Amino acid sequence: MSEEIPKTISLAAAAVEELRQQINYHNYRYYVLDQPEIADHDYDALMQRLIAIEAAYPELIIPHSPTQRVGAAPAAGFTRIAHLTPMRSLGNAFSAEELAAFHTRVLNGLGADHLEYVVEHKIDGLAINLVYEQGLLKSAATRGDGVEGEDVTSNIKTIKSVPLRLQGARVPALLEVRGEVYMSKAEFNRLNQEREQNGEPLLANPRNAAAGSLRQLDPKATAERALDVFIYGIGVHEGLELETHAQTLEYLQALGFKINPFYRIFQDVEAIGEYCASWAAKRPELPYDIDGMVIKVNHLASQDLLGATSKDPRWAIAFKFPAEQGVTVVQDIMISVGRTGTLTPTALLQPVRLAGSTVSRATLHNEDYIRQKDIRIGDTVIVHKAGEVIPEVISVVLEKRSGNEQPFVMPTVCPECGHEAVRNEAEAARKCSNPACPALIREGLIHFVSRDAMNIDGLGPAVLTNLLSAGLIRDAADLYQLTEDRLLELERMGKKSVENLLRSIDNSKQAGLARLLFALGIRYVGVKAAGVIAKHFVHMDHIRTATMEDLVKLDEIGEKIAESVVAYFTVPANLELIEKLQRLGVKTSEDVPAVRGAQPFAGQTFVLTGTLADMTRQEAAGMIEALGGKVAGSVSKKTSYVVAGTEAGSKLDKARQLGIQVLDEAEFKALVENSQE
Ligand code: IVH
Repeated sequence: MSEEIPKTISLAAAAVEELRQQINYHNYRYYVLDQPEIADHDYDALMQRLIAIEAAYPELIIPHSPTQRVGAAPAAGFTRIAHLTPMRSLGNAFSAEELAAFHTRVLNGLGADHLEYVVEHKIDGLAINLVYEQGLLKSAATRGDGVEGEDVTSNIKTIKSVPLRLQGARVPALLEVRGEVYMSKAEFNRLNQEREQNGEPLLANPRNAAAGSLRQLDPKATAERALDVFIYGIGVHEGLELETHAQTLEYLQALGFKINPFYRIFQDVEAIGEYCASWAAKRPELPYDIDGMVIKVNHLASQDLLGATSKDPRWAIAFKFPAEQGVTVVQDIMISVGRTGTLTPTALLQPVRLAGSTVSRATLHNEDYIRQKDIRIGDTVIVHKAGEVIPEVISVVLEKRSGNEQPFVMPTVCPECGHEAVRNEAEAARKCSNPACPALIREGLIHFVSRDAMNIDGLGPAVLTNLLSAGLIRDAADLYQLTEDRLLELERMGKKSVENLLRSIDNSKQAGLARLLFALGIRYVGVKAAGVIAKHFVHMDHIRTATMEDLVKLDEIGEKIAESVVAYFTVPANLELIEKLQRLGVKTSEDVPAVRGAQPFAGQTFVLTGTLADMTRQEAAGMIEALGGKVAGSVSKKTSYVVAGTEAGSKLDKARQLGIQVLDEAEFKALVENSQE
């Protein structure tokens, strides 16, 4: 963008012609084919340069220059609909200075020294125009060239947040509303997972996915890829008495439209920059993509006074966030081995600035991903990074291929231990087959001490690797046997840091069942599942003996998690590890809220059998233990009560034989309730 403006008109004419061709080509790739070849900000840069040269040589402006229209021509297949009022685009600001310049233009345009703005999310989706007649949805069209777009009414109707009939008392005879159709990040991920399983090419980003979905000729296909919409403005309307944009949003909401809740009114322009910056940082937390913020003059009368240029309104501007996509070169592909033994290919990149940081690595996920996208060493690629998310290579710029690029071959042995790396047919991952692989152990330990797990400070990957290679630890339990003397023998370990480390290791013994369960690294058991399971079972011993059925009864615990938990506790080495941890003083239970007064069940042993209707057996066990009682697995003379649900079997017979008191579920509940008083 900083390139100079050509010095003569003939040079300028040549430059303009070249730029227009490039922009038209990329427009077509992006808008018609949904297959972008360059990153958004590079496209923006081409456009900015064309705008700059045309501004210096206005005589070169022709009606069909890309600067003189809003978007590309509608794709074939849909009929066209003319918008009642033109759909404009927005000018861009990339810095605080450009924002300030916009504000000055607005003040000058109005001859004012003060005014109000509304600032909203700039949703990264597709613009949509909806027309309502007598309160009923009449048509829906894409922006197209700004004057007419594609008729996507039947597809839009599949979006549940689009009202088919408006509500409330102030429904106008004719209303044209504008908004943004988008796909949530969750839906996008779901869709891509599905595509991966079906061997279909992956979609680059939620916006392309939304565009593809909206362009399905069969509305059923659109409905299967859930889209959503935020409505942000009004086109043609009849008999409305609105004074401000903020009132317009409220009114739209009252009519039943989904409006974005994060808009805010500003009297003070200075604060707008900060507000935009705060959203730039928080955008990974949002369930949908935003690519900037939109700043709009609040008073509609002022908007009308300011009017629009041939392309953009003068009363609004888009503040664009730092690019989340960029173009760079894959210098090499490296394999890392994760805690489950999965071999993950990572692209080593020529460093590139993305979303405010320098990126030099990006994940390539697995061998299928590399094959589907045909990513080769030496390729020019588009990389995506959003906030704290791991950067990802999303596509190859095929036009940049020289022929010298090297296809990548996934190794069939583990790069850390040399054992065979096997691929299970049902999965995309290739895994090291050696359960004693040093990588597995190291990554498992890194996970064990991590913040959401046992949260042991001062035990970064480097120290752990050190401890492993010095032979001071072999598993997580060994951490609790470390001594000051042994640690001091290590390089770069001073007395102070050793003391601190031992203290945080000791403190972690009290981390509790939920953290410990997560720390064990059981497949599919994340922080949330670990919390649910720990809260329910209260003690590791109960989790160890829990069945699939017990587990899937819990909220949020599906079959995949349950199966993995049960499988974990069948492996002798895992059971030994837990025993060792327990022996070394690591807490393996969750604190149960203290019970008032004495423990009424103290000294009593219960046996649970059969199916209970209102609670699981683990819940019943929790109640008994909370009141000081014990739960045993089999009936003996020492058993105080047998609690029998339906389909109770041999335990019930035995209880009868031994003359032990049998309680049904109602009696048991009554006993618990009475004991709590
Ligand atoms: S107002 C005349 N508000 O950004 C003003 N646009 O680059 C029209 N967009 O075509 C736009 N979120 O598709 C507006 N809160 C928002 C928006 C928004 C996303 C899109 C819209 C527009 C494009 C302009």
